[in-house]
Amino acid sequence: MSTTFISKGADGYDQYMGRWSRRLAPLFLDFAGAEDGERIIDVGCGTGSLTLLIPARANISTIEAIDYEEQFVEALRQRNSDPRITAGQGDACALPFGEDQFDRALSMLVLHFVSDPHQAVREMVRVVRPGGIVAATVWDTFGGMPSQRIFWDTVAAIEPGAVARRCAALVRPMTFPNEMTRAFVGAGLQQITETTLTIRMEFTEFNDYWLPLIYGQGTLAAFLSTLPEGVSEKVQAAVRQAYLCGQPDGPRSFASVAWAVKGTVPNR
Ligand SMILES: C[S@@+](CC[C@H](N)C(=O)[O-])C[C@H]1O[C@@H](n2cnc3c(N)ncnc32)[C@H](O)[C@@H]1O
Repeated sequence: MSTTFISKGADGYDQYMGRWSRRLAPLFLDFAGAEDGERIIDVGCGTGSLTLLIPARANISTIEAIDYEEQFVEALRQRNSDPRITAGQGDACALPFGEDQFDRALSMLVLHFVSDPHQAVREMVRVVRPGGIVAATVWDTFGGMPSQRIFWDTVAAIEPGAVARRCAALVRPMTFPNEMTRAFVGAGLQQITETTLTIRMEFTEFNDYWLPLIYGQGTLAAFLSTLPEGVSEKVQAAVRQAYLCGQPDGPRSFASVAWAVKGTVPNR
């Protein structure tokens, strides 16, 4: 198994994370770049938050969008009307392309879910021509996502079984400072730069924050579904208190920070 990603289908993904990855995509593209005439690969394209934005930025030649989840690939196919974009199922650790096929490999919010992210970076290097660009971004799950922190810190204080789950959710591969840079160095990339990208996750009210957590995508929903009924109600009440923070229910805005790294493929 090359992934630790837990899927609940394209709609669940879009409710929980797709709405925020669409916000992150323009910032990542500003950093990673895209030039007219390029052949680009989007590794772990999901439902297409990044893929579908690229042609608005550059008159690209082609985009190959690949993802492990067939349902996401299908959702992207349904949304796409650009003949230059092809979506297919594939594994970031064994990209179904030959060497030097692309000018740029981009990967947004994927490497922290790949079982061997170093192999995934090596694969992106392999399929990009010398002089081309490899770029990736992942959430700073440990220190840059207060909307997730309030959930995990609250539940871990209530339910001892959540302590280890919190570690698994917040301490993910590639999410510590310079960790992706080290992986890029190890894969032989040159002229490497690392930065942070910040969006705001804005919720209209507690339920807009909570319901995608419990019904939607991801580790939080998977964990909540394992709690006995009494405990999950207690958790909900405590997380609601943390969200409200003594104020009436309504909009709340949380900064969310992602690490982003890019490098140039050397001559072989
Ligand atoms: C948080 S989503 C990001 C999706 C999309 N890039 C976006 O930003 O909306 C993580 C994606 O990585 C994909 N993924 C995880 N492991 C993978 C692997 N080994 N190969 C290809 N895709 C993978 C998942 O299926 C999922 O679509």
